[in-house]
Amino acid sequence: MRKFLFFFLLVLSALAQASPVLINATGRKTFSLNGKWNIIIDPYETGYYDYRHEPLAQFGQPASGYFEDRKAADKSELVEYNFDRSPVMMVPGDWNSQDEKLLYYEGAVWYRRLFTYQKRPGSRVFLYFGGANYEAIVGLNGIMLGKHTGGFTPFQFEITDLLKEGNNSLVVKVDNKRLREGVPTVNTDWWNYGGLTRDVMLVEVAETYVADYFIQLSKDKPDRIEGTVSLEGPAKAGKVKVEIPELQISREFVTNGEGKASIDLDAKKVVRWSPEQPRLYNVVISCGTDTVREKIGFRTLATRGSDILLNGKPVFLRGICIHEENPMRGGRAYSPEDARMLLTWAKELHCNFVRLAHYPHNENMARLADEMGIMVWEENPVYWTIQWENEATYLNAENQLSELIGRDKNRASVIIWSMANETPGVEARFKFLKKLAEKARSLDNTRLISAAMEVHGNPANPDERIVEDPFAEVTDIVSFNQYVGWYDGLPETSTRIKWTIPYQKPVIISEMGGGALQGFHADALTRWSEEFQEDIYLKSLPIVDAIPQLRGLSPWILCDFRSPRRPLAGVQDGWNRKGLIGQNGTKKKAFYVLKKYYEKKESDQAGLK
Ligand code: GCU
Repeated sequence: MRKFLFFFLLVLSALAQASPVLINATGRKTFSLNGKWNIIIDPYETGYYDYRHEPLAQFGQPASGYFEDRKAADKSELVEYNFDRSPVMMVPGDWNSQDEKLLYYEGAVWYRRLFTYQKRPGSRVFLYFGGANYEAIVGLNGIMLGKHTGGFTPFQFEITDLLKEGNNSLVVKVDNKRLREGVPTVNTDWWNYGGLTRDVMLVEVAETYVADYFIQLSKDKPDRIEGTVSLEGPAKAGKVKVEIPELQISREFVTNGEGKASIDLDAKKVVRWSPEQPRLYNVVISCGTDTVREKIGFRTLATRGSDILLNGKPVFLRGICIHEENPMRGGRAYSPEDARMLLTWAKELHCNFVRLAHYPHNENMARLADEMGIMVWEENPVYWTIQWENEATYLNAENQLSELIGRDKNRASVIIWSMANETPGVEARFKFLKKLAEKARSLDNTRLISAAMEVHGNPANPDERIVEDPFAEVTDIVSFNQYVGWYDGLPETSTRIKWTIPYQKPVIISEMGGGALQGFHADALTRWSEEFQEDIYLKSLPIVDAIPQLRGLSPWILCDFRSPRRPLAGVQDGWNRKGLIGQNGTKKKAFYVLKKYYEKKESDQAGLK
């Protein structure tokens, strides 16, 4: 008996390791677990700790507490919870915007979903989460599978040998408490939406399957498509085929003992991806028993002095910042429809670029940007006052960055990985960010690295603003946030500013602008009026446009968004009002100022062709 128990626990502990995340999960055989889940709100974490605050279960072992999903067996038994009789919540979706009692809630919520699933003989099944904010602990049929930390990147667990005939009980504890050692930390300027905020699905693959691939135009030989393909499974040392039918490409490669193969294909006939011509190719990767399909665009990226080169030609990034929120719903965005609404508004501004602030957005955004021809800045949530000297905090930041790059590395639209936003210029922060940048380049040397840095004044010259940051020596692009006209003087202040940026690198103004309550009209000196916000843009744009190294900007922000930092009654009411579009979807006057500036930039760029 002891031998069996030992073996059982050995198998379970192996299962509990979250396996490397499947790339392109939706391009495979999936079974959606979206829809109604039962929930239990648990601020004291009664379902996880005993009264001494000791965990009730260990990973990979039979769980007690709410993971058991128990019910009283008879009228006398005491069980103080019952998922069957608990309220329901929609998944995907944050809990804050689904129940007004939970709008400000920060704590644990338990989710339970029953499902039946008949897997094909010999196949493998993964339980895949697009994201959960902030920490998720997952149990299936009473066995705790493991934990994921970080609110914005995918994770999965193999459940092949844990699936039961009939009903399976999936229980997930999600806790969105902000943590001093967290990434982000306790202090942000956005709503701390908690929950299973993205798709949840089963993914079925063959016993040996295509786990990962990175397929791009070579950085150094742009008439070659290069990359790697990775297989997992007992037959991973074998062959893998890459097909790109529209290029008449069909090549087999041999994988090594770890299941990896380097690929090298002729790309002479490739039509490069660009905003003007967002050409995507059907790519099929198979290994005999498993096939994965997706659309991939091919383009090159580089910098030359102060220029950003897309397919060898200088490009100006006509951008806007976006939070992952549907303003009309006042909740986390998660769907293809949300993505299309936000990116269509960006297109109406004549944008060819978006900064997805301040954390990895759902996968629909970069996939749709591929199709719509919009270049993308994606960002790791290293925001403001991170614990720079905490090793666990660094590893958390590095893991979230790796999961983001792992997920989106085949997206032609993604051109910039941003390491951070507005972080203090102390030595520990420099070391932290430099290590992150090195990690990013080790995972992907084809994209450009940046971060939103800060600006400072010059006591000797009140009209000078200086961008000077040791991290700018590390990044490919020097980006900074500036609020002259809002936090820094009034709109006419912009007209006096002299910018000092001592770097011969491309410069992006990653944030600028100011607030306005949509529909409030007054003179241009009345704070919160649409005219005040409009005047910031009217007076700032000609000044920043004159910065010699300027190669892009992404004003703050496309839409008003919820933030607990913004309580001004009658104006903010828990919303940050710097959007060019109000929370009701109505455009403000400043929207049209930026649009006009971008229309001219677009025609100038066309003139450069
Ligand atoms: C900062 C920060 C944003 C914030 C904005 C603001 O630059 O990067 O996250 O929302 O300013 O103050 O509105």
